[in-house]
Amino acid sequence: MAEGVARLPVLADLHFGREDAERDVTEGLLLRGGFLPNAAYRAAVAGRKMLIIGRKGSGKSAIRMQLMADADADGGYGGGKALVSPDEAAGEEIRRFELQGLPGDSAKALIWRYLFAVHAARYLVSHVKDDGAHGRRTPDSVKAVHRFLRQNGESADAGRLGERLAQGAKGLQTSLSLEAFGVKAAVDMTREASEGARAARQLDVVEEGVARAFEELGCAGGRDGAAGHEPLLLMVDELEVVWSAEPDSNSMVIGLLLAAKHAAGRYGRAVRLLLFLRADIYDSLTFGEGDKFHGDELRITWTEQALRDLALARARASAGARLTETELWRGIFPERVADEDTASHVFGRCLPRPRDAIQFLNLCQETAWLTHGRERITEGDVLRAGRQFSAWKLKDLALEYLVAHPFLKQLFPLFQNTGYVVTRSTLGGRFDAAAGTLHGRFPAYAEALTLEGVVDILYGVGFLGVRRGNDVVFAADDHLPVQPHETEFHVHRCFREALGATSAIDIRRYEPLAALSARIASGAHGPQSSGTTPRNRDDLLLGELSRSCHSILAQVSRAVTLTPDAGAEITRQIGRVLDDAQRIPPGAALSLGVHVDGHLLSTAHYFEALAARILASGLDDGTTGAGGVAHRIEEEVRRLRRVAGGSYGSSGNSGRS
Ligand SMILES: Nc1ncnc2c1ncn2[C@@H]1O[C@H](COP(=O)(O)OP(=O)(O)O)[C@@H](O)[C@H]1O
Ligand SMILES: [Mg+2]
Repeated sequence: MAEGVARLPVLADLHFGREDAERDVTEGLLLRGGFLPNAAYRAAVAGRKMLIIGRKGSGKSAIRMQLMADADADGGYGGGKALVSPDEAAGEEIRRFELQGLPGDSAKALIWRYLFAVHAARYLVSHVKDDGAHGRRTPDSVKAVHRFLRQNGESADAGRLGERLAQGAKGLQTSLSLEAFGVKAAVDMTREASEGARAARQLDVVEEGVARAFEELGCAGGRDGAAGHEPLLLMVDELEVVWSAEPDSNSMVIGLLLAAKHAAGRYGRAVRLLLFLRADIYDSLTFGEGDKFHGDELRITWTEQALRDLALARARASAGARLTETELWRGIFPERVADEDTASHVFGRCLPRPRDAIQFLNLCQETAWLTHGRERITEGDVLRAGRQFSAWKLKDLALEYLVAHPFLKQLFPLFQNTGYVVTRSTLGGRFDAAAGTLHGRFPAYAEALTLEGVVDILYGVGFLGVRRGNDVVFAADDHLPVQPHETEFHVHRCFREALGATSAIDIRRYEPLAALSARIASGAHGPQSSGTTPRNRDDLLLGELSRSCHSILAQVSRAVTLTPDAGAEITRQIGRVLDDAQRIPPGAALSLGVHVDGHLLSTAHYFEALAARILASGLDDGTTGAGGVAHRIEEEVRRLRRVAGGSYGSSGNSGRS
């Protein structure tokens, strides 16, 4: 181990990359060993799924960028690629696009189909020039496609997407130049009844022309049985840039889905569509044909193990390929943080997606190296980074859902400065108190702003987990929504620090006897004669205190349905009381400056408050055993007061059976 540590890379070199795929490619690690081929990537390469859905930061753009960079040689995607990523101007064009005689979704589908056709056409024109792709002769159909592009201002060197789209949209609404495909626009098209029908008719001609060119070239295999090659991969990413809650935005995305489905059928094996969609956008769509897309969906998921792999891959890419997992998690990082294995500590406090992991890990490195100039990351660094990270994430969550749930941030106070375990009834009480204000500020969302609605949303965004049996389940691991009979919710670890909700239930910590350990350690108490003198009253009282603690602990352990986190929290505090009582050597209380009567009374006071907090937590719904624990504590309070107040040995013990 010592040898291993000696050759650890310096902390300054360690970096986990940039937190968005675009910058991670140019100045980070993504394409330099930092990319992890996950299920979503493999499905994309294999052409199994058309919709890659993931939350912000889950790695949609990373997959897209890896695909763009892929080459046959390294087992990646070898076919042609084209990317459509609408900027503000293009998005504006699409959102505004309307056709008289067609419903919004269908009109938007037509403009997307036009975009796809143009991108496929541009690919064809450059593809025929590829060395050895399809022989020397350029088929007439490809020449026609080329002419079409030129005549409609869509050549490869034409202007920006937004400008071209403006022109294309106008063409669809009036007339495109279709002479390249043998159609005299003005004559042949004007007979169509409506704008919508005319646009659809024109598009059919364009798509037909493009499809014929693919066929004549034999991209998907020739009629003579010649083998084709991998299809053109047409990808759409970054839709979130042009997304808002307006109905036009909704139509824009639905139109995209419809168009993609249409194009997949129209171009057959020559073109494959791949849409990267943010989960909050996709999940907020409402349209009749939504069920037709379930088979095309793939949701990006990340496990803790996958995030560990990602961390190691990135640590290696930045600090040296020979770095081992042990060196990373036991040498550079401290072995344990807050009594947990460090990697579990870190990844348990992230929502399961690479952006979070990268941010947290970089923050640890920066806290240790930049702020403190250390060689290694300490437990304190990770804890400090964790607090900062938690604050970031709470803010980011509100931003991530700003469009779908603009009121999200206003729900956070319901969880501030209390325990992180909340029952439905407790939450109901808090929600009722806030409902008036919420409805006043967000009148359009009154329907969602009910207790059930809020629980569903907070579960859906990963803020709350729900207790199922002995597990706490989050939306990322289980798609079953919160059921009406489920009553116990846990705030995700990621947000607890920022909310000041770091213990399971809102109980005050037991404060140990001041400076006791120091005095015991320094041997500042009188010499011990234990065993030779009869036990004095102090010792007997301390014995009673220990007995109370054991009795409470036993009750907690019998409360089998009490949420484990709350049970552990109570156990931890009672354990500290017990430690104190047991640390005082027999006969030494007075010389240590401990007034046992007073200590017993103040502990009884602490217990009383503890019982009240347990009852107030709402965990006691008659089945969880929380009530039993609280009542046991109350009984012990009465008993301790009696023994401390009265003379020991008589009535003090008679209350117990
Ligand atoms: N499969 C992966 N392997 C390695 N790094 C990844 C992977 N997926 C995402 N990342 C990294 O995670 C961060 C967020 O990913 P990004 O693609 O920007 O998310 P999205 O586009 O879904 O919002 C980026 O730094 C990216 O490089
Ligand atoms: Mg992205």
